Amino acid sequence: MTVDLFETTYKGKKVLVTGDTGFKGSWLCIWLKELGADVYGYALPPLTQQDNFVTTKLQSHIHHQDGDIRDKEKLVAYFKKVQPDFAFHLAAQPLVIESYHNPHYNFETNLMGTVNFFEAVRETSSVKVAVNVTTDKCYQNNEWVWGYREIDPMGGDDPYSASKGCSELITNSYTKSFFSKDETCHVASARAGNVIGGGDWADNRLIPDIFRAYTSKQALTVRNGNSVRPWQFVLEPLFGYLKLSEKLFRQGKTFSGGWNFGPGAFENFSVNDVVNELKKNINISVELPKSQEKLHEAGLLKLDITKAVNQLNWKPRLNFEQTIQFTVNGYLHELENSSNLYQSRVEQIKQYCNA
Ligand SMILES: NC(=O)c1ccc[n+]([C@@H]2O[C@H](COP(=O)([O-])OP(=O)(O)OC[C@H]3O[C@@H](n4cnc5c(N)ncnc54)[C@H](O)[C@@H]3O)[C@@H](O)[C@H]2O)c1
Repeated sequence: MTVDLFETTYKGKKVLVTGDTGFKGSWLCIWLKELGADVYGYALPPLTQQDNFVTTKLQSHIHHQDGDIRDKEKLVAYFKKVQPDFAFHLAAQPLVIESYHNPHYNFETNLMGTVNFFEAVRETSSVKVAVNVTTDKCYQNNEWVWGYREIDPMGGDDPYSASKGCSELITNSYTKSFFSKDETCHVASARAGNVIGGGDWADNRLIPDIFRAYTSKQALTVRNGNSVRPWQFVLEPLFGYLKLSEKLFRQGKTFSGGWNFGPGAFENFSVNDVVNELKKNINISVELPKSQEKLHEAGLLKLDITKAVNQLNWKPRLNFEQTIQFTVNGYLHELENSSNLYQSRVEQIKQYCNA
């Protein structure tokens, strides 16, 4: 089986993933499991029966603990019980629109959730590597044509982006204050773009909206059609997170700090491009919104991935057409034949590794 883009880093290791019931967390757990890790998850229960965690029956492959990331005592107790070697933090409120509707919950979850994660890491001496997953939206967005580099300032106008900028500052503060002299635990943060792939059914995201329109045979309403986003198949950033954590584990704190994982510099595609590419594969009709909700969202956002390409030996493995193809296949596996979806996710991981 070709899932070993890594050394034997994860084989037999305990890996704790917060947010394992979510889209990216569930895929990360499947990949880690295939790499031979003993996987532990901590998150709120899945939101719907459609979630990847449920449809892949992930709970029968890993250990999972229901819990709120804002509950520090419960999180710390779980870390102490598990004694993980690696910790990945993906439990978050991840939606821009939701952050406008409930900013207090958004900030509590994304700021204090990050603080609680690092407190749990500090209190658990077994942890050798901790990676906080944030987003491209953590940067102060100037709507310029260049990609943001890891040295650019943090920012964020909407509550989600601001909370992720803060999560980055918290990571930096914990790294400098508590882990810089600590030779046993190394810390980094990972910033990815718009991640797509089978198993994501979140509200107000383009691809889930497209497949909801496809299954219900209703017209798709497209917001912000000209917005350019760093579209990535879900395994691309996960490959980056796993590479980064491997480097931290093997080579230590030179790999601490922030890392961008996005598409190549010339892969600039808009919402309309995605819709048109998808229409080559599935039958959907599209309409413009009757009234546009006036909530600010970034129009142009690009990541500079030079650092990860040069220093982590990571690079995107799929071009735009392949990204859409992998995504369509992931949804169609689920919609047309979901009897052993876990295995079908494993097959996609193998295909990705061989791409
Ligand atoms: N999907 C994307 O396009 C994208 C892009 C960049 C960054 N990210 C980041 O990646 C991470 C995972 O995103 P996702 O797309 O998988 O989101 P998701 O909504 O599918 O999953 C979120 C996970 O966090 C958990 N969670 C949320 N609030 C919680 C709380 N209060 N306590 C405990 N668990 C809680 C959920 O239960 C779930 O397991 C997030 O940090 C998100 O900001 C996502």
